[in-house]
Amino acid sequence: MLTGGGAGIGEGIAHVLGERGWHVLVNDVNEPAAHAVARAVNGTPLPGDIRKDPKGLVERAFGIAGALHALVNNAGIIRRSPLAETSEADLDLVYEVNLKAMIQLSQAALPHLQQTAGAIVNISSIAAKNPQPTAGFYSMSKAGVSAFTCLAAQEWGPLGVRVNGVAPGLIRTAMAEAVYSVPELYEKRRMMMPLRRIGAPADIGRVVAFLLSDDAAYVTGQVIEVDGGYSQTLIEHLPHPGSPKS
Ligand SMILES: NC(=O)c1ccc[n+]([C@@H]2O[C@H](COP(=O)([O-])OP(=O)(O)OC[C@H]3O[C@@H](n4cnc5c(N)ncnc54)[C@H](O)[C@@H]3O)[C@@H](O)[C@H]2O)c1
Repeated sequence: MLTGGGAGIGEGIAHVLGERGWHVLVNDVNEPAAHAVARAVNGTPLPGDIRKDPKGLVERAFGIAGALHALVNNAGIIRRSPLAETSEADLDLVYEVNLKAMIQLSQAALPHLQQTAGAIVNISSIAAKNPQPTAGFYSMSKAGVSAFTCLAAQEWGPLGVRVNGVAPGLIRTAMAEAVYSVPELYEKRRMMMPLRRIGAPADIGRVVAFLLSDDAAYVTGQVIEVDGGYSQTLIEHLPHPGSPKS
């Protein structure tokens, strides 16, 4: 079961998992998008808002598939505002989608995943460790996603369920399209990536597929940064003697 699979990174994850033989139950609050992606990957649509009755959503998934081997908590939103001005409504919304629903879906899926020795992968962000100014509650919610991942791995490992995360860096999706549709901004950002490209949804999908696979059978409690090396570049951006920036 994959949340937010109707677009962006979730759509990329759905395609990679479909290609690797998974039957993907594609959840999205955007019903036509859930249907379109499910059709494209030979999966099954599971439309719905993850905030509303997460347990019911998991039971629907189980009812369709008869067993659950994986839960990919990908759905996430951002509401931009300076911290001092972040409204209670935005705080609640981002908390409920990015963190609360993810926790409740995982709790509901746990008994099913125990039956299959299944795995959970949560989509965090490099913003969990590098809080993003003017992104409201987003970074804090993602820090919560990463912390939940490490905690659940400890408590659920003995039950046979692995829990890992992926922290994407700069990935071109609708969430960040306001930046990437400006060619100069796109190029400047691209040149700041050690791998000299902005990530694609499939870059995240392939790491999710690894974490769900038997190749990762002894991996749990890890949040893998998939960012083209960007989060290692802090020192590089300092001016140095003799560099053009000094
Ligand atoms: N794009 C990036 O650069 C980037 C970087 C780091 C982390 N992420 C994370 O990756 C995940 C996917 O981001 P994206 O860029 O693909 O976003 P996106 O906006 O392109 O797609 C998100 C999808 O989730 C769905 N969704 C939103 N709220 C939902 C809800 N309540 N219930 C069910 N579905 C819902 C949307 O309809 C949409 O199809 C998010 O958790 C995001 O925080 C993205």
